[in-house]
Amino acid sequence: MSGPSRAQWTELYSETVDSDACLMPTDPLPFVDEIETKLSEESCERVLEAAAGEGRNTQRLASVVSEYHACDISADALQTCKRRAGHQATIREADIRSLPYTSPFDATLLLDALTHFRDVELALRELQRVTATDGYVIFNMPIDGDDAATSGELIADYGPVCEYEYRNDSYSTTYMFISNYGQFCELLSSLQLSIDCVSSWEWRDPPHPEYRNNTHDHKNLLLYARVTDARGN
Ligand SMILES: C[S@@+](CC[C@H](N)C(=O)[O-])C[C@H]1O[C@@H](n2cnc3c(N)ncnc32)[C@H](O)[C@@H]1O
Repeated sequence: MSGPSRAQWTELYSETVDSDACLMPTDPLPFVDEIETKLSEESCERVLEAAAGEGRNTQRLASVVSEYHACDISADALQTCKRRAGHQATIREADIRSLPYTSPFDATLLLDALTHFRDVELALRELQRVTATDGYVIFNMPIDGDDAATSGELIADYGPVCEYEYRNDSYSTTYMFISNYGQFCELLSSLQLSIDCVSSWEWRDPPHPEYRNNTHDHKNLLLYARVTDARGN
């Protein structure tokens, strides 16, 4: 398993599943409006949000798309996601490393999650596989200046991405960062993904125990990658 294991996510979410509390912040990510606009402009009708977690973004995004699917590896997280967006989205348990969808999507989304997969390439390859030619794979990744780097330990620099380990009292989490943007674009290109546009985002999150105990600052790129040839892989 790349990043925290399924067992770790199960344990983390089990702390909050029977209460009104959430593991992640409850507000949607700050760039959800921008994604919403893109999905509308590009007339994306069939959309998948992978690793949707408790659905803080699902609720908003599903309201602008006619066929919205959301999945996550954690059944506990999906209980909250269903409460929030079950009337608007088709929600199921699924592992991003082996997505169980057969018809292609106009867009696939991976929000605040690619950073936790040590095998970034595998996750992107799988999203690309289930996205139609000319469709979009949309995701965010941290860059230098994000608190996960300043409060974490650099484990390795692989070229396009580097790996940090962030520890809190009871567990440690992997944070993958974009370390070399040019090399990252080359990696995308090898997966038949071409950057259509990129935006830069900085925001502050309040503590959200059990996951991040302190107020923390994010610095991320949001990337819209177009699938150049869905049959290419
Ligand atoms: C930091 S949370 C982000 C959740 C949500 N996208 C959000 O913005 O709140 C990362 C999510 O990735 C999910 N996840 C971890 N490994 C996964 C895998 N192999 N397949 C699918 N989801 C996975 C976790 O269960 C968790 O919900």
